[in-house]
Amino acid sequence: MKLATFLTSGLAAFTAAQTPAPYTDPKSGITFSILQHSSGYFFGLALPTNATGSTDFIATIGGKGTGWSGVSLGGAMLGKLLIVAWPNGQSVLGSFRKTATHASPAIATGPFTQSPIANGTYVNSTHWTYTFLCSKCIQPDKTTFLPTDTSPSLGYALNAAAPPQKTNPASSVAKHTSQGQVVFDLSKARSGRFEEWAGYAGVPVAKVGRGFEG
Ligand code: HEM
Repeated sequence: MKLATFLTSGLAAFTAAQTPAPYTDPKSGITFSILQHSSGYFFGLALPTNATGSTDFIATIGGKGTGWSGVSLGGAMLGKLLIVAWPNGQSVLGSFRKTATHASPAIATGPFTQSPIANGTYVNSTHWTYTFLCSKCIQPDKTTFLPTDTSPSLGYALNAAAPPQKTNPASSVAKHTSQGQVVFDLSKARSGRFEEWAGYAGVPVAKVGRGFEG
């Protein structure tokens, strides 16, 4: 099923954020365990079969319109590694964030990187999507889920309003209009094709994030 159809047909079936379910992106061919929200927001994960020692995953994040979509890799907003993304014309900007207070999260620095996967990153008439290899994104310091977790809670947050400096990946964002935490059954996100899909990734974006021409 196309994502647009999936999004539309799914609207009546759930109120806010549904249980993550398998979804294969028609352009990249990557299968994710994906969380869909009635706003059009989505966040999906793909992981290798062998959890032990793995610090990487492939993520896809997107939405409809020009607002921002965010995820907390540790579930809560405070003290966890966050990812924020939004479209800018035909580009998509992504960045890592972290905050100790309930305010617009600042850019986070660390060993983690985002390497865009070109065939899974695009803006079209129905939605935008940003797909990337998130390297060293699973950290042992309790800011993210752990490689051996089986069903961690991840956080989602979104706002349909575009960030005030939408060409700047470090822009502030307005508070989410919808947010929450959802359990991901990681066994459903694992695939023996992970390494093949990870090979689609280009070079890492700068730590501050940047625009990516999808
Ligand atoms: C100006 C920006 C932001 C403000 C003022 C803000 C404020 C808040 C507040 C006050 C809460 C508690 C629930 C509520 O009262 O609504 C909350 C929860 C949450 N926020 Fe934010 N937030 C901002 C940006 C973000 C961003 C960019 C993300 C993710 C990338 C995020 C992720 C979450 C999540 C996942 C929760 C629910 C889990 C929890 O309770 O910690 N927030 N936020």
